[in-house]
Amino acid sequence: MTAKRIDGKAFAAGVRARVAEEVARLKEGHGIVPGLAVVLVGEDPASQVYVGAKGKQTVEVGMASFEHRLPAETSEAELLALIDRLNHDPAVHGILVQLPLPAHLNADLVINALDPAKDVDGFHISNVGRLGTGQKSMVPCTPLGCLMMLRDHLGSLSGLNAVVVGRSNIVGKPMAQLLLGESCTVTVAHSRTRDLAAVCRGADILVAAVGRPEMITGDFVKPGATVIDVGINRIERDGKTKLVGDVDYASAAEVAGAITPVPGGVGPMTIACLLANTLTACCRANGLPEPQGLTA
Ligand code: GUN
Repeated sequence: MTAKRIDGKAFAAGVRARVAEEVARLKEGHGIVPGLAVVLVGEDPASQVYVGAKGKQTVEVGMASFEHRLPAETSEAELLALIDRLNHDPAVHGILVQLPLPAHLNADLVINALDPAKDVDGFHISNVGRLGTGQKSMVPCTPLGCLMMLRDHLGSLSGLNAVVVGRSNIVGKPMAQLLLGESCTVTVAHSRTRDLAAVCRGADILVAAVGRPEMITGDFVKPGATVIDVGINRIERDGKTKLVGDVDYASAAEVAGAITPVPGGVGPMTIACLLANTLTACCRANGLPEPQGLTA
């Protein structure tokens, strides 16, 4: 069996097109322009690339982009003052503080200073608690993107066995909450899990978010399962730098029913969902109905 390749790049383009349509409708019907503020502290090269891509795509869907690039030595008080300003700025509907922050800044404190309604990453403690208790919240972008692709491929997820490998606050834990919300039977596995391969082989839905290159091989996969690879790992092979996931694509694709590639799978969905979350936050802030299919 050769698995269907789930094309995240095309799917993300579709999400962005939907967001752009809704943004145009908000502008024409209500004179509202959704705005996203992105805050970057320091010069981390990978973060600079991500922030640049976010700003570009925000403008492409017709939203307002506000970029705040601060020096690495910015104090906590200065950063908190900026967040307070953005919290109270009516043109800003979403705020994202790029992580990781420099070591002298307390990321939990900074994230929890955001207005939860503008926390488009879904990292604020109030959004984490709301997601865990089934209340309306902002949902972290990467798990939201995974959920959209799973719904598109499988329809109802109810009753399916889902195994999430990885227990991070950004992906593993919120992914597990979202799958519970879809009435899956959810197992969260991690580096200490005994006989990980056997646990994974019970999964109808296998989400890999461990950050270990090509660790999940074909013998971890139940025949016909849907495999979502969240990993983005840079490795050296044959003298070249290569981007690979947490799943060994070649062997897993021989067993799975469907699988996301790396690159071109989950990755492009993250920014698309950031834009979707900004639109959702803007609609909520203005008491307007939320767009269908772009939220959890
Ligand atoms: N750094 C890496 N991934 C993310 C993300 O999803 N959100 C933020 N804010 N920073 C990140």
